[in-house]
Amino acid sequence: MENQRNVCEIDFLAVSENEALARMVVAAMLMPLNPTVDELADIKTAVSEAVTNAIIHGYNQNAVGMVHMRCELDGKLVTIVVSDHGVGIENIEQAMEPLYTSKPELERSGMGFSFMEAFMETLSVESAPGKGTVVKMTKQICLPEPDGQVPEE
Ligand SMILES: Nc1ncnc2c1ncn2[C@@H]1O[C@H](COP(=O)(O)OP(=O)(O)OP(=O)(O)O)[C@@H](O)[C@H]1O
Ligand SMILES: [Mg+2]
Repeated sequence: MENQRNVCEIDFLAVSENEALARMVVAAMLMPLNPTVDELADIKTAVSEAVTNAIIHGYNQNAVGMVHMRCELDGKLVTIVVSDHGVGIENIEQAMEPLYTSKPELERSGMGFSFMEAFMETLSVESAPGKGTVVKMTKQICLPEPDGQVPEE
């Protein structure tokens, strides 16, 4: 199969309705690659977590800023970048610890980054207080053979 490449970038207002929008954009982009149900669910969950964080933490649910999402397909490799220009993260290492949340009053469980880490293959977070946050995730998906068979490694 030829090396499929595609890129999509969107900006959307930081409102919770747009979590579904972001998930659907990524899912639609992945369709030509015939991802498995699990692969699709994993990537959609990771996207949801990153976008929710931008909305809830980056912009404190004030619907004041824009979230940017870039999705790139390069053959089997899916790269998703979610960024905001919100409050940023003071201590990235602490923020990425399982169960750490700065908003326990909102009943957040502090598992967003852990899910992104578990469901994707790589996760990197860059952030600066007062400037914003960039979350980059990648995952290789297993392309089926043209006859629908999953290739043996
Ligand atoms: N885009 C962001 N801007 C500012 N702070 C962020 C951002 N993303 C994450 N954080 C910080 O990192 C912490 C951990 O994020 P994580 O997604 O793991 O947990 P959570 O969002 O608090 O809870 P959950 O995702 O389980 O609902 C957040 O509580 C917040 O302090
Ligand atoms: Mg979260």
